[in-house]
Amino acid sequence: MPKTDNGPSPLATSNEAAGATDEAPDGYDFKGATFDLNDPGDRDILCFILSQALFGEATGVYCGRSLYSARSLEAARFYTRQARQELGHLQLFADVFRELGLTPQPPHWVIRLLSAHNNYYPLKVLMEHAIGEGMVLDIFKDLLLQTLPDSDPRVPSIKKKLRVVVREEAEHVAWGEKETAAMLEEKPWLRAPFMGLVDLQLSTLPLLVSRLRGTRPDHPVLSQLAPFVEHVRERVKRQSRRLGFYPERDAPRWQRGLAMAAGTALFARSQLARSRSLLDKNYLRELGFDTSTRGQ
Ligand SMILES: [Fe+2]
Ligand SMILES: [Fe+2]
Repeated sequence: MPKTDNGPSPLATSNEAAGATDEAPDGYDFKGATFDLNDPGDRDILCFILSQALFGEATGVYCGRSLYSARSLEAARFYTRQARQELGHLQLFADVFRELGLTPQPPHWVIRLLSAHNNYYPLKVLMEHAIGEGMVLDIFKDLLLQTLPDSDPRVPSIKKKLRVVVREEAEHVAWGEKETAAMLEEKPWLRAPFMGLVDLQLSTLPLLVSRLRGTRPDHPVLSQLAPFVEHVRERVKRQSRRLGFYPERDAPRWQRGLAMAAGTALFARSQLARSRSLLDKNYLRELGFDTSTRGQ
């Protein structure tokens, strides 16, 4: 099972994973910069970030839909467990809003786009789990856990909740990477469209942070958004290289253009894809029965 770049090993015990600190040794270092939870401007920014997280968790619950197309008992167990965890995250973020006295806002259109359900399994495990939840983990682990001020009496309880979410999101990313690797082994032709889709997904990041940047250039956290986004982009590229579909050196523009076109075509085709059930065909083998001796 591959190790994630942005979290504890998926094979780590929950205690090891829970031991993750706010320093995020392989993550972005905000160098002690924090938000002020009593400043109206800072509260507005945090409300925006948390509102995106809340919407993402609400759509995360629908991973339960993947049960229908689960290709193994292991996958069925994972999606059942994940749906319960995402439901828990949704409640935890709602509690955070209440603790901070904030009211959730509607999601940004980029988050709506990135959270859209995909019926084509190879795209789902790459875009939603490996890459999408990987970036969610960057926000929770690197941004929120570091920049919420420990001096505020509300923060220890909020960070306790966030650490639970971070530990479980790391498991979701690890699952996405494992399934992505299996899909690439089965269908090596997915490498080019996957590369193009990751480039397209990375190109949406500046659109998302443009809402936060610019108005307060001297803010200790906001002034670091550009290097933070660059850090996320580089981490996703390393993750994609480790999964074997992204070039070691930046590809020439024509190659990236072709990959993006292939990715767009695959995404368009995936919108017409229908989920196929598999467990009703392979449940006997999955349960360990010898189907070659049928009728005896
Ligand atoms: Fe979640
Ligand atoms: Fe998740």
